[in-house]
Amino acid sequence: MKILVIGKGGREHALVWKLAQSPRVTHVFCAPGNAGTALDGVNVPIEANDVDALVKFAKKEGIDFTVVGPEDPLAAGMVDYFQEFGLRAFGPTRAAAQIEASKVFAKKLMRDADVPTAEFRVFDHPDPARAYVQTREYPVVVKADGLAAGKGVIVCSNTEEALAAIERVMVKEEFGRAAGRQIIVEKRLEGEELSVLALVSGRTIVPLAPSQDHKRAFDGDTGPNTGGMGAYSPTPLATPELLNDIEAHALVPTVHAMKRRRTPFRGVLYAGVIVTNQGPRILEYNCRFGDPETQPVLMRLKTDLCDLLLAA
Ligand code: GLY
Repeated sequence: MKILVIGKGGREHALVWKLAQSPRVTHVFCAPGNAGTALDGVNVPIEANDVDALVKFAKKEGIDFTVVGPEDPLAAGMVDYFQEFGLRAFGPTRAAAQIEASKVFAKKLMRDADVPTAEFRVFDHPDPARAYVQTREYPVVVKADGLAAGKGVIVCSNTEEALAAIERVMVKEEFGRAAGRQIIVEKRLEGEELSVLALVSGRTIVPLAPSQDHKRAFDGDTGPNTGGMGAYSPTPLATPELLNDIEAHALVPTVHAMKRRRTPFRGVLYAGVIVTNQGPRILEYNCRFGDPETQPVLMRLKTDLCDLLLAA
């Protein structure tokens, strides 16, 4: 089989590395790829959001299966587009990718499905949001609804900071007009964060090994928060009881709710979980493999990844 991986991160290198080990895979291409993917596959100079060029390449090269790494092309409908051309692609449709692309969608889904998450309110105008943050206990988190390259989440320790965050997101539109049209104000969850990635086929859920990423930029847990400087698995935080709890009270009701809404989820459902003193709470969902969590998780995976992704 010929495989195309879309993206250019450590995540995509891990995917290329693992997929290349499958006995049924003969070629792995990566668009646009990086220095690592060039070692285990063949880089193709097409950007991850250039849907037309990617479809053209997949058809010309006879690609049997495409794996989409990052959230932006998924949210833009890359998988739907490939399917329109009769090409098999792994990842959620545009409608299902809303679970990451719209924080309001995800929080409402969690509320409807009784998934444990932080208490929150949604606002589509700055005035009621300003009034609300005057009444809160701190810290709170102000979140832009849409994708903002991981930057649209602002932790606020007092009312002044929350008012400034509302200004930045909704009035100055620092994270883009669409991302700032709606905001969420939610209680800040206290605890360590765990990444639980599960392969989902619409109704079947296969959790992969849990992991944790190093969030702060510098050694010794110092410096600015990042999307993850590195990751490790196994982690002592993830006991079997905790994982059963997350599967039963978060993954299962979420996947069923997506199906009921006629936006069935196929792909990797990534639960960002905060392990609080009261138990696990879902901080957010992502609609893709984690970066960098994919690196240790796929190192531990014994099953053929190509078989798993095709089955999903
Ligand atoms: N490591 C965080 C993420 O992939 O979103």
